[in-house]
Amino acid sequence: MGQMIPDLAATSRASTTKIKPNGIPNGINTAGKKCQHDPTFTQKVIAATGPNANPRLAQIFPSLVRHLHDFAREVNLTVGEWSTAVDFVWLPRLPNPTLSLTPPPPPPQLNDCGKMSSDRRNETQLLCDILGLESLVDEITSKQLATSTTQTPSAILGPFYRSDAPFLPNGTSIVQGLSPSVSWYEKALEDSAFLSGKVLSTDGKPIENAVVDVWHTAPNGLYEQQDSDQPEMNFRGRFRTDQQGRYALYALRPVPYPIPDDGPAGRLLGLLDRHPNRPGHIHFIVSAEGHRALTTQLYDSRDRWVDDDAVFAVKDELVVRFEPREGDPGARWELGYDFILGRC
Ligand code: BEZ
Ligand code: FE
Repeated sequence: MGQMIPDLAATSRASTTKIKPNGIPNGINTAGKKCQHDPTFTQKVIAATGPNANPRLAQIFPSLVRHLHDFAREVNLTVGEWSTAVDFVWLPRLPNPTLSLTPPPPPPQLNDCGKMSSDRRNETQLLCDILGLESLVDEITSKQLATSTTQTPSAILGPFYRSDAPFLPNGTSIVQGLSPSVSWYEKALEDSAFLSGKVLSTDGKPIENAVVDVWHTAPNGLYEQQDSDQPEMNFRGRFRTDQQGRYALYALRPVPYPIPDDGPAGRLLGLLDRHPNRPGHIHFIVSAEGHRALTTQLYDSRDRWVDDDAVFAVKDELVVRFEPREGDPGARWELGYDFILGRC
């Protein structure tokens, strides 16, 4: 796994794989007004509640979600504004150093989300995710900024992004620490995958020197910062496109995993009789000069949860099919995918 590729042109032959176009028309929001967002989205979040949900919660939750989503649509809530609100809710109240009180001020009082949060985990964000709010503000923001209908759709960033992944040469692997002593060794061999494609402008021109920042979990469903047994920055890397806009790397076919459900967000899932699972996905941030950075995810079409994502982030155009790869000892699967960036 991870050898250099002699000829990028030969290896990026797998062309863009898009399963089915999103035929959802612009629609009507729940307040009956014309809107440019997916008209089925709010109902999808409401319908995820299971038959054994807490009865009172089952009664009031649909209204909460409708009002929350209508609010976000009415004010065109952006990802930046939502993110500021999330920090506002969970950051601890720190003692004011300009007041020299005796005795000293009490320690910060944290609510349940605050207690569960740290620099590695943001429980309020998780709560928003299971309410569909992060996906909704992502859609609102990307529609506002879109300059063309052909650009690749965005998807949520999620809480496990690290901005400083290593730059790696095209054609190398983001898989580290693979040895028979690792519990997921066999699964990693089975799922080894070669990813390649181009980064294009909406006019179809290839973009040279674009950065493809990619990350996913280990086969045990954990990101490296959640798992002390994984090497630092495992399954993360940044790749620069060549003159023809091509990128290529070795990774793994992604596995489904549960979002952290041992805190208040998990408690709410339990009360709603909902599962915590995300379909297997690979995260990307694709950026290039003169273009809007694209944050997105690709989903494995054969995943058990692809139509039932706990955080409602799947879009049809982002569902892809991995194909068996012949003659490459480094990968059993391959995926070709072109990213199309809008200009800014
Ligand atoms: C993720 O895709 O990494 C993610 C998104 C929302 C909540 C938890 C994880
Ligand atoms: Fe993820």
